Amino acid sequence: MTTDYKNIAVEKDNGITWVMFNRPEKRNAMSPQLHYEMDDALMRLAIDDETKVLIITGKGDAFSAGQDLKLYFRETENDPVAKQRAQQAANSWRWHRITSFPKPTIAMVNGYCFGGAFTQVCACDIAIASDTATFGLSEVNWGVIPGGIVSWNIAELLNHRDAMFYAMTGLPFDGRKAAEIKLVNYSVPADQLHDETVKIAKLLMEKNPATLRYTKEAVRHVRGMSHDQAYNFLGAKLLALQQVDKEKGMQKGLNEFLDSKTYKPGFGEFKR
Ligand code: COA
Repeated sequence: MTTDYKNIAVEKDNGITWVMFNRPEKRNAMSPQLHYEMDDALMRLAIDDETKVLIITGKGDAFSAGQDLKLYFRETENDPVAKQRAQQAANSWRWHRITSFPKPTIAMVNGYCFGGAFTQVCACDIAIASDTATFGLSEVNWGVIPGGIVSWNIAELLNHRDAMFYAMTGLPFDGRKAAEIKLVNYSVPADQLHDETVKIAKLLMEKNPATLRYTKEAVRHVRGMSHDQAYNFLGAKLLALQQVDKEKGMQKGLNEFLDSKTYKPGFGEFKR
């Protein structure tokens, strides 16, 4: 696979890497080819030094209308190998590559977000939506269940009442509602979405990257652990961070707060 992508666009801008679904005429529905390209792009960007923060969004008016009903479902119906390849790539990038991405990930939900597209929203560390974005678990409306891992995503992230209600009714809801039920962190007016997302990306880039990576890994992995497992894991994780942190952030933080009294960690960003 070359990086001459046709279904996605990758743009780098001063540390922020934008990965955009690029089938606006099909509301950015996810074809097998789009999945292969996303899988390849995220593999490369994970080890790309220019990428400090990743933002995933859609070109045009849609975030993504979910799986492409024609190319992902119908056209692979009688081709088990093609179906298997597409399913594996879809699951790989939407869950494994995003959740293990070593830098912060933000889903910027700019418009339609249906069905299978919930997975990448849930996988990102942070999600910000336009007030007017339209979300929907439309699967029930065309005879399937929220498959792939969508049912698992909503069971994990939403409260039980909301997960059941939206999965069973298939009713669409807007970005404000998505924020209220905590599918996204918050929503903003459409004309502020880009700048607000960039603001958060820049805030994250101010942080010590090793501390940030270990923080997101810590919070993500303790989910599902017992108290004792978490205590043990976090202790080991903190020691590991001190080994890999080239900026020696902890020593610097202690010195600046306790000795030179030049910095208060409770206020604002870590000075780098
Ligand atoms: N799969 C395949 N094609 C899709 C698609 C999808 N999920 N979503 C949209 N498209 C295509 C349409 O077929 C249409 O193609 P055409 O111009 O060749 O006819 C084009 O994108 C524009 O879609 P259209 O329905 O005309 O746009 P709209 O703005 O009126 O409605 C949606 C947008 C997203 C509400 C509507 O297309 C829809 O319901 N899509 C299916 C959503 C879904 O159930 N996804 C879950 C899959 S897991």
